[in-house]
Amino acid sequence: RFGLQTDKLGKNIHYEESVGSTQKIASRLVLEGAPEGTIVIAEEQVAGRGRMDRSWHSPKYTGIWMSVILRPNIPPQKAPQLTLITAVAVVQAMEEAGLHPAIKWPNDILLNGKKATGILTELQADADRIQAVIIGIGINVNQKHEDYPEELQSIATSMSIEAGKPLDRAQILQHVLYHLEKLYLLYLDKGFQPIKLLWESYAITIGKKITARSISETIHGKALGITEDGVLLIEDESGKQHHIYSADIEL
Ligand code: BTN
Repeated sequence: RFGLQTDKLGKNIHYEESVGSTQKIASRLVLEGAPEGTIVIAEEQVAGRGRMDRSWHSPKYTGIWMSVILRPNIPPQKAPQLTLITAVAVVQAMEEAGLHPAIKWPNDILLNGKKATGILTELQADADRIQAVIIGIGINVNQKHEDYPEELQSIATSMSIEAGKPLDRAQILQHVLYHLEKLYLLYLDKGFQPIKLLWESYAITIGKKITARSISETIHGKALGITEDGVLLIEDESGKQHHIYSADIEL
């Protein structure tokens, strides 16, 4: 049943029944010299981590909780591009399941306006060189509406809720890795531009009035697009442009 269609990604699989966070295991494997393409995948995370110090709900047997180790030869400030590449890969895998996902900058994947996937990219780098990038991907696959804690029910969904039937996690995993490898190789070969165009075609934020909230400030304005580095550009009422590196976006 498990037929991988990749050359590199997932050839080295570290599978666990239950972990704290796959990110933590992956960073240990990086230190031990794990090759590019190694993935860590778990049935359950009891301390799943999200962006901005939040937790990530990762109940047993329902989702795809994985970390992918890449070792690209790019400067550290380009690492956010890998998050955007990953978002496009997950979107393409979801489309193969007949769904119509959208991306909310930087890395939320929405189905029907609710979050179905989160991506957390962590770096191990020196000042000017990347040792490894650990891309954490959490895909809600087979959760039912009532499986979510009450505070998540209005904002989270799963692929199966939207598809109206249970889905095969192994197949979705294969598709995600297939698309991620294809896009990653395209990126290494041709640069970020082709990925940027794909990403923008799936993004719901571009051209809309949004609010970007970070720890230090709140900016209202129109989302113009993303830069070469994956930074969000917002134009406020006075016409001033802001570069947003990290924030929560409200539509
Ligand atoms: C977010 O949207 O805040 C990012 C969520 C990332 C969740 C994934 S699940 C696999 C990996 N391990 C973690 O602890 N987090 C990421």
